[in-house]
Amino acid sequence: MFALIHPLTLSTATVGRQLHVSGNVWLAPVAGSTNLPLRRLAFEQGADLTCTELVSARSIAMTGSIEASRRYLRNDGTTPTAIQLFGSEPDEFLRALEIILTQDEFRATRIFDINMGCPVPKVVKTGAGAALMLDPERAATIVRRTADFLTPLGCAVTAKVRRGFHAGDNTVAEFTRRLAQSGISAITVHGRTRAQMYSGTADIGCIAEAVSAVRSENPAVPVIGNGDIRNAASAARMFLATGCDGIMIGRAALGNPWIFTHVKAALAEIKRTVTDIDCTKISSQGRNADFANEHAEILAVATAYDRENPITPCPAVVSETIIKLYRDMVQLDGNFRATREFRHVLLPFFRNTRSAARLRNRAARLSSEAELAEILEEYERTNSNDNEPSER
Ligand SMILES: Cc1cc2nc3c(=O)[nH]c(=O)nc-3n(C[C@H](O)[C@H](O)[C@H](O)COP(=O)(O)O)c2cc1C
Repeated sequence: MFALIHPLTLSTATVGRQLHVSGNVWLAPVAGSTNLPLRRLAFEQGADLTCTELVSARSIAMTGSIEASRRYLRNDGTTPTAIQLFGSEPDEFLRALEIILTQDEFRATRIFDINMGCPVPKVVKTGAGAALMLDPERAATIVRRTADFLTPLGCAVTAKVRRGFHAGDNTVAEFTRRLAQSGISAITVHGRTRAQMYSGTADIGCIAEAVSAVRSENPAVPVIGNGDIRNAASAARMFLATGCDGIMIGRAALGNPWIFTHVKAALAEIKRTVTDIDCTKISSQGRNADFANEHAEILAVATAYDRENPITPCPAVVSETIIKLYRDMVQLDGNFRATREFRHVLLPFFRNTRSAARLRNRAARLSSEAELAEILEEYERTNSNDNEPSER
C-alpha cells in the first residue's frame, strides 16, 4: 500500500546522516505572510515543516550580519522551520550560512532551502531565484558546495524549483536530476514556469516527470509537489498524479491554516477506506490518460471528505485564532509595524465569507486591536449561521 501520509527522511549528502521530518504536508514560503506567528499557527494545525520567506544570501554575506533579515528568520525553537536563501554565488551562500549558524537562535536549524523559483525581476536579474533554472551547472555547484559545508554539521540542503523559466519551458526533470546528483536532500517542484508567475494553473505532469527523473538518479531524495492545492481532492490528486513524496501548500493556507488538519485527516481516511492503492501504478500517472478512472475511488473519498467536512471552523474559533495571531505579531514587532503587516495577513481570512468585500475593506485599514475586535464582531454576526462546507 502506498502511504499517502508518512514521515519523511532527508538523507544528508556526503556522510549519509538522516534528518527526520514528522510528515509530508508542508507549508510553502510566502513572502510577506509566512512570518513566525503564521508558521507557528500552521504547525499547530498540522503542517509538518514550515519555511521562512526568501532571504538574501548576498545581503547577509556582504554586511556580515543577519540584522536586516533577522525578523524573517525568527524561530521559536519548536516550530520545524527551514531557512530559505536566495542568491547566485556559491561563496555568498557559504558566508551567509556561516553567519547564520553562529547565532544561537539558529543553531537548531537543520534544513536550508535554496530558492530556485522566485520569478520577481529584482531577484531574477541578479541571476538568483528562477534564473538559476537557466544555469543548471551553477545551481548544481551551489547545492554541492552548500551540502559539503552543511552535511558535516548535520544539516540538509533542499531546493524549491519551477517547471522552467520561459513560457512553455519544461526543463524541470533534467534540472532536478542534476540537483539529485549534487547532494540535495529534497526538492520541491512548483508546476508553473517563471513566465507564469502565479497565474494560470500549475502543471502536474511536469512534477510527475521530475519525480521519475529524481527517483532514477537518487531514490533517497524526496520530491514535494506544489501548486494549487486547496483541499483534500487537489492534495490527493497531487500525490496520485505525480507519485510525489509530499505536498506543499501556500496560498490556500493563508487565512486558512486549518487546511493542514483537513488534508491530513482526509488522507488518513483514504488510507483507512481504500485498500488497493497500488504504488507501482502511481509513478506513471502524470502521463496516464486513464488516471481519472484508475483513481476514481480515491478521488471520490477525498471529494466526499471535502464536501462533508468544512475546512474552516466556526466563526468564533476563526476570530479567536485571528486575535491570537495579531497579538503574537504585536509582541514580536510592536503595535505600529505589526498592525500594518497584519492587514495583509488578515485579508485572506475573509475570502469567500459573507460580507467579504466590506470586511476586507475594513481589514485593509486596520489600525488597532479595538478595531480588529469590531471587524471580527461583524464577521461573526454575518457568518455565524454559515455551517456549510467551505472551499476557501
Ligand atoms: C505573494 C507570494 C510570495 C511568495 N514568496 C515565496 C518565497 O519567499 N519563497 C518561495 O520559494 N516561494 C514563494 N512563493 C511561492 C509559493 O511558495 C508557492 O510555490 C506558490 O504560491 C504555489 O503554491 P500554492 O498554489 O500552494 O500557493 C510565493 C508566492 C506568493 C503568491
